[in-house]
Amino acid sequence: MVKRFWGYYALHVYLPFSSFSRNWRKFFRRRKGKQHDLMQETKLPETTWQDCSTTGSVRLWEHEKQNGNVRLSELAILCAFAAGCAPGTKLFEIGTFDGRTTINLAANSPGSCNVFTLDLPPTITPKYSIAEGERHLVDKAMSGARYEKHRASSPALVAKITQLLGDSATFDYTPYEGSCSLIFVDGSHAYDYLLADTRTAMKLAKHGGVIVWHDYGIWEGVTRGLEELDQREKFGLRNIRGTSLVYWQKK
Ligand SMILES: C[S@@+](CC[C@H](N)C(=O)[O-])C[C@H]1O[C@@H](n2cnc3c(N)ncnc32)[C@H](O)[C@@H]1O
Repeated sequence: MVKRFWGYYALHVYLPFSSFSRNWRKFFRRRKGKQHDLMQETKLPETTWQDCSTTGSVRLWEHEKQNGNVRLSELAILCAFAAGCAPGTKLFEIGTFDGRTTINLAANSPGSCNVFTLDLPPTITPKYSIAEGERHLVDKAMSGARYEKHRASSPALVAKITQLLGDSATFDYTPYEGSCSLIFVDGSHAYDYLLADTRTAMKLAKHGGVIVWHDYGIWEGVTRGLEELDQREKFGLRNIRGTSLVYWQKK
């Protein structure tokens, strides 16, 4: 009941109000000729989450946001996409962090789906340089603490999750290729990683599978990488209105 409340609040109250206030702040800053503190100007066309999803009702676990997590509204949208995944398919997250999104993908996808989540252990030297300012997200005691804490109370739910460890640029994705119905790209925000992880995500997606990127308009490497790719490859990427999420479906 409480989890449904948070899902409803995130999609129908938090999202409209936060996107209104975000646009308002952008408008005033533009009028004063200032760039937004943390945001870049964005060029990708927008879509709405409702246009991309058939589900309007989601349940949110672990609703408190920590630094490094997606916003509440973004979490609920990802849950709506998870709910639309075909039974028996895989969901793949690049960038686990504390596992808040991971447990929500598991909780909202059909029971027969499995969630794979890949994270960089602090001991591995990555192939490319990660972005300045994201080292603290890597340097943590463990990946997935927020789903692990539910293992005893909700064993079947947590059993849907497989934690993978490695560098997203060199990891062997062979067992997952062509079988994922939802891929969430939220690892390193450096330009080289955006390109490498996007190439990977496109290979992982099954026919009809959805890819979602986070931090478009927030991290320069993500914004530039997605806009350049879209211009060059004509993918038809769409920014989900009121969020930093970018959406694409494999046809
Ligand atoms: C922004 S956090 C992910 C947040 C999480 N997806 C969520 O929704 O709460 C980024 C994560 O990507 C991981 N990461 C950074 N570089 C990576 C790489 N090269 N390969 C795999 N994971 C990486 C970091 O360790 C961190 O846990």
